Amino acid sequence: MSEPRQILVTSALPYANGSIHLGHMLEYIQTDMWVRFQKLRGNQCTYVCADDAHGSAIMLRAEKEGITPEQLIANVQAEHSADFADFLVDFDNFHSTHAQENRELSAAIYLKLRDAGHIATRSVTQYFDPEKGMFLADRFIKGTCPKCAAEDQYGDNCEKCGATYEPTDLKNPRSAISGAVPVLKDSQHFFFKLPDFEAMLKTWTRSGTLQEPVANKIAEWLDSGLQEWDISRDAPYFGFEIPDAPGKYFYVWLDAPIGYMASFKNLCSKRPELDFDAYWKKDSTAELYHFIGKDIVNFHALFWPAMLEGAGYRKPTAVCVHGYLTVNGQKMSKSRGTFIKARTYLDQLNPEYLRYYYASKLGRSVDDLDLNLDDFVQKVNADLVGKVVNIASRCAGFIHKGNAGVLVDANPEPELWATFQAAAPSISDAYEARDFARAMREIMALADRANAWIADQAPWSLNKVEGKQAEVQDICALGINLFRQLVIMLKPVLPKLAADAEAFLNVAPLRWSDLSSPLANHQLNPFSPLLTRIEPAKIEAMLEASKEDLIAEGAVTAGAATGNGELVKEPVAAEINFDAFATVDLRIALIEKCEFVEGADKLLRLTLDIGGAKRNVFSGIKSAYPNPVELEGRLTLYVANLAPRKMKFGISEGMVLAAGPGGSEIYLLSPDNGAKPGQRVK
Ligand code: 2FM
Ligand code: ZN
Repeated sequence: MSEPRQILVTSALPYANGSIHLGHMLEYIQTDMWVRFQKLRGNQCTYVCADDAHGSAIMLRAEKEGITPEQLIANVQAEHSADFADFLVDFDNFHSTHAQENRELSAAIYLKLRDAGHIATRSVTQYFDPEKGMFLADRFIKGTCPKCAAEDQYGDNCEKCGATYEPTDLKNPRSAISGAVPVLKDSQHFFFKLPDFEAMLKTWTRSGTLQEPVANKIAEWLDSGLQEWDISRDAPYFGFEIPDAPGKYFYVWLDAPIGYMASFKNLCSKRPELDFDAYWKKDSTAELYHFIGKDIVNFHALFWPAMLEGAGYRKPTAVCVHGYLTVNGQKMSKSRGTFIKARTYLDQLNPEYLRYYYASKLGRSVDDLDLNLDDFVQKVNADLVGKVVNIASRCAGFIHKGNAGVLVDANPEPELWATFQAAAPSISDAYEARDFARAMREIMALADRANAWIADQAPWSLNKVEGKQAEVQDICALGINLFRQLVIMLKPVLPKLAADAEAFLNVAPLRWSDLSSPLANHQLNPFSPLLTRIEPAKIEAMLEASKEDLIAEGAVTAGAATGNGELVKEPVAAEINFDAFATVDLRIALIEKCEFVEGADKLLRLTLDIGGAKRNVFSGIKSAYPNPVELEGRLTLYVANLAPRKMKFGISEGMVLAAGPGGSEIYLLSPDNGAKPGQRVK
């Protein structure tokens, strides 16, 4: 037996200002399956992650919610942790970048880089919001595209014509935070001298650390020359202050990857068998893998290895890159209901369905992966329920009824057993190479063989034949042993099903090495169904609930992609001109009736009187008004010309206006006394 490998694995750190959605889950499930495989093989594998808690977006979001950034990140961390746990993503540690270990490591790494001459300082001129008193990142500046004159475009690119430009090129620039006209202002910035590491990066990126298309993309950047990287931001900023530089903070992307180390360091303090230095020292023999999305490759395959090298640490063994998630062939969409939060999925469906579906489609490529919901239902039902679980449910009853649940010592088809044994190395190679799709194909081919053999033996017919009962026991013993083989092979993907199968099989937690030793003369526990079919109605309910989420949150006005396709909400909507505003027909409405909507978690149904005419409106305000009748008789504001929306529960005609961060803090707007239903708001 070779020595167990020491392996440290990370997934990208999710931002601490938004919910986890199925796009994020692709990465966490992919990583978790690989980690579980390594553990199943007996390696010392450690999986760490953290919330990415710094940056101006988090500072502004907390401000908007009227809480401190620390409160915001604590709330989000609790939500994220619950989502991951319920998707069976089993981190060894889920920490935060806003933690003491990260503060110390970030400062230490920066000082090592500075003392080795890899930090430069120079003055930078940037837009500054004079009202808010802060420098504006490109996404917080809006204006008119210098190329096509489209209004309301971000500071770095135009969504209409695709042009990229400097914020200073925008016409009529405005701060998206306060609406003020920004002014240009100078400030001293700190830069990491990335070009110092060009030679190292050229070798490192071509040494098997990256998938080929990723290495090719990086080669383009390396060939066109590296730039120094701006690692500082001015106060006000939520992050760590740079040592000896009051009022200057590390840019969130400087301390985010150091968060991987910090989370591991935090874990080392709880697990004495883990030695921080053994994993991170320059000549470490431990392996280090980062799983990330393709949009954050530059941070992980250029800046990060260069920082590690410059500060005297080891570099990653590999950076494993995946593509984005699409749903039904298209980008996730809030209005189609395909922008599905982890919790919205979990409210309707078993997490293992999605784990299996992702596994069946995840290869080594960086192409996008499509969650086709019809295919999802079909594949999960056919493979997991129809093939894998079916083997156990076909055989268990005969063993319980015919032999008091004791599985006999028999191998009536040695060739079939040998086929399973022979397939194992190829399946483990596929897992090791993160080619989950190949592993699933090969496992399902084995399941097909097992089912075909059982069908051929037809124990259900044989059992009726006088004197054949012993043969039935032999067949079912092999059937259950083949099922056990499949469970071991699927355990990284389906840990809950494996645990339930272990309970039925009456065995200790299965390991990969158990593949070579079948059960014989062994007492089974009673069998209960391990997995049920996906009901298509649950998919519908999930899509509807996602639309409800949208209503509950209010429409997202604009978004920027981050590592996991996250939408970043704007703190304040961009300016609109008067004509645009005047198109909104705002009316006074009387809430005549207000009631719960059966089957909806977040909605209330309001019957509005808008001056003679009646309107039916669904509003995502249930969390703030648990006693809906209290709203009856109240006046509110109503958008009368919003296009009707067809929902599962009926048609929503317009929208009532409310304010607040969410949860119990949603406040329905009301006019002053004297307003009459139907009056237009001036
Ligand atoms: O893109 C993102 O969502 C980032 N929060 C990922 C950070 S990964 C790591 F470097 F910390
Ligand atoms: Zn344009």
